[in-house]
Amino acid sequence: MSVSLKGRNFITLKDYSAEEITYLLDLAERKKKLKKQGILGHSLKGKNVALLFEKPSTRTRCSFVVGCVDEGGYPEYLGRDDIQLGHKETVADTARVLGRIFDGIEFRGFKHSTVEELAKYAGVPVWNGLTDEYHPTQILADLLTMREHFGHLAGLHFVFIGDGRNNMANSLMIGMSKMGVNCTIIAPESLHPKKELVELCEGYAAAAGCTLKISSDPADVKSADVIYTDVWASMGEEAKTAERIALLRPYQVNSALMKATGKDTTIFMHCLPAVRGNEVTAEVIESPASVVFDEAENRMHTIKAVMVATLGNEDD
Ligand code: CP
Ligand code: NVA
Repeated sequence: MSVSLKGRNFITLKDYSAEEITYLLDLAERKKKLKKQGILGHSLKGKNVALLFEKPSTRTRCSFVVGCVDEGGYPEYLGRDDIQLGHKETVADTARVLGRIFDGIEFRGFKHSTVEELAKYAGVPVWNGLTDEYHPTQILADLLTMREHFGHLAGLHFVFIGDGRNNMANSLMIGMSKMGVNCTIIAPESLHPKKELVELCEGYAAAAGCTLKISSDPADVKSADVIYTDVWASMGEEAKTAERIALLRPYQVNSALMKATGKDTTIFMHCLPAVRGNEVTAEVIESPASVVFDEAENRMHTIKAVMVATLGNEDD
């Protein structure tokens, strides 16, 4: 059965099957290989995309811009002070206006309901470039990086350690359990993921034949193939920084924690930006085990795949 994602939104990976996720990873891998040979596509020729950012970004913004231009499209960046989103104009009105002018809309911001409302009213594909709750394009880059490194996904043992209820932990839990990757989230109890999301992901894991475990014990990194962490205070939570540092100190990824996996093949992953000395030591992020810049590069190839699959003409 052939997969077509034409016209689809990309809001969370909950809406995507393992087969559809694999399709996006395969497309990204193909586009990456072609670009390395100097071959670019035309699949977004004549398409204009709006890039809405309420929060700052290096990787996501640049990936949408370069991914779009590589395929012959035109990206327009609209920062928080450029448009009226939700202030002088309702989100629904902005969505309908942008949907008449643009062929696709990316949104990064605070409330997840904003990206859902954009998708409801825009009439063109809407892509989530990060909200307080989810960061699905990052997961595609992470899955591609893991697949490139290990040659497969199913059966790997993935550990996320740190703030277990942030957008990254939520999205990683969905992506790993859909793709058959055994997933452990390690966080202090007050930062455990929401029960409803855990239950949903347990269902995905059961269907994919893998496990999902929520723990508070850093010793549960044992036998991990991947150790993943993220900032202790996400964008918008800056006031909580001191409290989080105190709470999460025992969950820092350092050389002793990497060693506690009992494997010398474990890789270190991080979506970036990273705060060296907080969630990860400089020693680990700079070590040969670290694949963080492969992940960063793969943001572009996977975001390009999302735009091409949902909006473009893949034959071009
Ligand atoms: N990982 C990630 O989303 O990075 P940016 O915040 O720089 O886009
Ligand atoms: N949890 C982080 C992810 C950054 C890519 C944040 O939301 O700031």
